[in-house]
Amino acid sequence: PLPHRVKLVDVGPRDGLQNEKQPVPAAVKIELVHRLQDAGLKEIEVTSYVSPKWVPQMADNHEVMQGIQRRQGVRYSVLTPNLKGFEASLADRPDEIVVFGAASEAFSQKNINCSIAESIERFAPVVEAAKAKGIAVRGAMSCTVGCPYEGDVPPSRVEYLAGLMKGIGVEHVGVADTIGVGTPKKVQAAFDATLKHYDIDSVSGHFHDTYGQAVGNTLAALEMGVWQFDASVAGLGGCPYAKGATGNVATEDVVYLLHGMGIDTGIDLDALIDAGAYISEQLGRPTNSRVARAVLAK
Ligand code: HMG
Ligand code: MG
Repeated sequence: PLPHRVKLVDVGPRDGLQNEKQPVPAAVKIELVHRLQDAGLKEIEVTSYVSPKWVPQMADNHEVMQGIQRRQGVRYSVLTPNLKGFEASLADRPDEIVVFGAASEAFSQKNINCSIAESIERFAPVVEAAKAKGIAVRGAMSCTVGCPYEGDVPPSRVEYLAGLMKGIGVEHVGVADTIGVGTPKKVQAAFDATLKHYDIDSVSGHFHDTYGQAVGNTLAALEMGVWQFDASVAGLGGCPYAKGATGNVATEDVVYLLHGMGIDTGIDLDALIDAGAYISEQLGRPTNSRVARAVLAK
């Protein structure tokens, strides 16, 4: 049963720009957020409160969050790997915080410098503190299909991580294909494993497009009834701890897919393409969105 409506979270300002080699001024990030909300995005992942030694691009988290002119009805989410990050985020009033773990031990170590079990111990007080303040909590689960260090990741590892996330009170989890190696049946198996602990309304897809499979994987998830997805305008991005992995699936491409299937997103595709053109110009490179390229070539 295909959903009638889909919620998209644009993670471009965070996932898209965290790996950028050149410095991106905070004013450009703020303008990008404004353009995304103008295009009808109702949820935007803005930044992360991580070590600036690990991810220098996100060191301007306060400046970016403080610079945004918030629009009513839009949720602004941020990544917080530990209490230090969570506490730093509070001054900037995030609507939702994201703790991020991995289904693979090696990726957990490389990305957040601790084991899966240790990461859950770090997340638990963050989740508790966020809930006490009425802040929504999402959990990102990396490497649910494949890992840059371990190769294939079996669904049993995804089920294990989803159970741990559930156990500490995480309300919603994102099933991430961090390095974009997934194909539809593998992605569906990762969702099946997650659905052992979460219902269909509490899961989302987060697909990087390294192997060009992300639109197909989105459709495979839609067919299971998944109706929430992360995507990145212009297909920006990559993870600094997943070498060679490219950006998320382009938001423009997902919107085109959904609208073409008669599924509502509330997003104005032309305005979104303009937002993608803006950031691509600022970065001095062509967009990774196939849809944007096709439309702009007309
Ligand atoms: P650590 O070195 O183990 O932390 O890093 P520590 O607690 O031992 O502290 C070491 C230093 O970091 C100290 O500073 C702390 O104050 C500082 P020093 O005394 O050396 O000057 N520190 C912090 N600073 C700022 N904010 C914080 C923070 N915590 C400690 N929150 C840590 C652990 C998690 C901090 C580190 O590994 C880190 O920052 N990792 C970054 C990981 C990251 O951002 N990765 C990209 C995002 S995840 C992703 O892209 C995947 C996703 O898109 C889904 C998918 O596609 O798979 C979500
Ligand atoms: Mg990602």
